[in-house]
Amino acid sequence: MRVNPEFMQENSLLRAKYNITAMFYDIIDYPWERIYSQWRPVLLRDVRGKVLEAGVGTGRNLKHYHSSVELVGLELSEKMIRKAKKRAERSPCKIELIHEDATIMQSVDSNQFDWVFSTFMCCVMPNNLQTLAIEQFSRVLKPGGRFRLLEMVYSNNKNIRRRQDIFGPYVEKVFGARFDRNTLHHLEQSSKLKVTGTRFLKDDVYLLIEGIKQ
Ligand SMILES: C[S@@+](CC[C@H](N)C(=O)[O-])C[C@H]1O[C@@H](n2cnc3c(N)ncnc32)[C@H](O)[C@@H]1O
Repeated sequence: MRVNPEFMQENSLLRAKYNITAMFYDIIDYPWERIYSQWRPVLLRDVRGKVLEAGVGTGRNLKHYHSSVELVGLELSEKMIRKAKKRAERSPCKIELIHEDATIMQSVDSNQFDWVFSTFMCCVMPNNLQTLAIEQFSRVLKPGGRFRLLEMVYSNNKNIRRRQDIFGPYVEKVFGARFDRNTLHHLEQSSKLKVTGTRFLKDDVYLLIEGIKQ
């Protein structure tokens, strides 16, 4: 597969950012994680079979998978994945963690997963990289396989939007995340993935996107 050098550079920057952020990620993310930790088990309650989690980060979702799940966890940053490995030891399911780029997934075979699951990965990716990651989700899912993504988006509420504008530069600097990533739009452009539902978990900011591979 030919890889665009510009995309590779963007990914190397993200990887470098997360290799630094990994050292204190769980500490700086803690105020948000108090909320996310209530959502994670609920989001994984019905997830079964062979599952790909993209952008596992420090492994916050790992302990919530059902014991019957066979999980492959992908992560771009070697320092983040090192943290995730510790959490994987405490997970009830079988886990293979791989240091891999979700926009390429070179080592991942096609049409093999029942689920693709990801929390807050696409919102750290520039639009062109998201499109590539979505193509890979489509490739590796079985026909009939499902996906569930949780992302942050801009709010239409003036007060929340003001706060997002204040914190936006910090969030982008530290996490690479932005509120204008348009993941839903990119998913809707996919020829094989069909969005079956969206809902907000909090305000009109935390957007859950679910769908199926046709
Ligand atoms: C905001 S963190 C979220 C981590 C975790 N999913 C969670 O919910 O706590 C985003 C993660 O996506 C990873 N990531 C970004 N681009 C990636 C890519 N192309 N392939 C795999 N992982 C990627 C980052 O390294 C980082 O660990």
